Amino acid sequence: MDYRILVNKTNSISKDFKPDYLVNAQSKYKDDILLEEETLHSFRKLQEEALQFGYQIDIMSGYRSFDYQDKIYNDLVKEKGFNYALRAIAKPGCSEHQTGLALDFCVYDNDKCYVEHEILNFPATKWVHSNCHKYGFIVRYPMDKEEITSYNYEPWHLRYVGDLALYLYNNDKTLEEYYLEKE
Ligand code: DAL
Ligand code: ZN
Repeated sequence: MDYRILVNKTNSISKDFKPDYLVNAQSKYKDDILLEEETLHSFRKLQEEALQFGYQIDIMSGYRSFDYQDKIYNDLVKEKGFNYALRAIAKPGCSEHQTGLALDFCVYDNDKCYVEHEILNFPATKWVHSNCHKYGFIVRYPMDKEEITSYNYEPWHLRYVGDLALYLYNNDKTLEEYYLEKE
């Protein structure tokens, strides 16, 4: 598995692409969430360290098939319109979730689960953002890089990139910028 794979609006993957080693994330949030194996192991370590600080996090979305992404893309277009969807959800074939290397985390606080924009101001979220690179993850769609990633800020979406995470974190670079500088 290429942990550095770039999947975005201009770098799509085929309809049939499915990662080889998908495993059940055993998330407290939902039963049937799958993730690429190394990605899940790394998330577990992140989750364990978070817990030492009293922060409870889990996975609310992991691997998504092309067809499932197609469904949620179309649902969002219907609900919020095309212009909103353009900045918030990838078209099928253009989502990192199809690689099994992306996950959306949720935060538990007093036994209540918070998702997506709700996690914005939680100390747990801040902690994850400052520490996830140690476990190979990046915040894939940061607040100040919206024009580069072409997506709105998603504090919940982490992407596993392996040892590249440390470099990207230390140099404040997105995956797009990393590939641009390599050209
Ligand atoms: N929300 C991200 C961009 C996705 O749909 O993959
Ligand atoms: Zn996501």
